[in-house]
Amino acid sequence: MNAMIETEYDYLGVEDIETVLDIERESNPFPWTKNNLQDCLEKGYYSLVLRQDKRVIGFAILSVSIEESHLLNIGLTSTKRGQGLGKDLLGKMLLAAEVMGSKKIFLEVRKSNTVAINLYKALGFKTNGLRKNYYRLKEGREDAVLMSKSLRKSFLSKSFFSN
Ligand SMILES: CC(C)(COP(=O)(O)OP(=O)(O)OC[C@H]1O[C@@H](n2cnc3c(N)ncnc32)[C@H](O)[C@@H]1OP(=O)(O)O)[C@@H](O)C(=O)NCCC(=O)NCCS
Repeated sequence: MNAMIETEYDYLGVEDIETVLDIERESNPFPWTKNNLQDCLEKGYYSLVLRQDKRVIGFAILSVSIEESHLLNIGLTSTKRGQGLGKDLLGKMLLAAEVMGSKKIFLEVRKSNTVAINLYKALGFKTNGLRKNYYRLKEGREDAVLMSKSLRKSFLSKSFFSN
């Protein structure tokens, strides 16, 4: 029963990298590598994992700055998709960007990734355009859809950055 499942967020740590790589492999034709994830940790990107009963079932990585934030990646293990968890995880990323004072958040997504595009639209992202042949495929290349969302200045960021 779902109510019995203990769901919690945590910062992505080195010990989570292998599980996140597994999620990547079931999500992307050209998944991120261990080096990509280590690089995110070294750069101090805002990186969360979602755990259920202590096991990592999702992750998201955000590069944050005052001017703009970039959602670099988000994914859930395939058996946990379509239950509202992605929306919740993305909500956490939006909140972090807002609290840090970002004015806008940007992302790129494969043109064929209807589920992710629907998720982004559901949380208020707008389409800005296409980047032609941006992603590799097993055969050929695929366009990226560029999306963004303007963020409100939160109470916290207002109090940090006023004057
Ligand atoms: C994209 C992803 C993170 C979404 O997470 P999720 O938990 O499956 O999505 P949710 O259940 O929270 O649903 C959020 C929205 O996505 C859309 N969505 C979810 N499942 C969908 C489906 N099967 N078909 C179409 N739209 C769908 C809906 O708009 C939904 O909003 P709604 O419930 O109000 O209708 C997840 O599917 C995933 O990990 N996919 C593989 C990795 C990936 O593509 N990452 C994006 C890289 S840019």
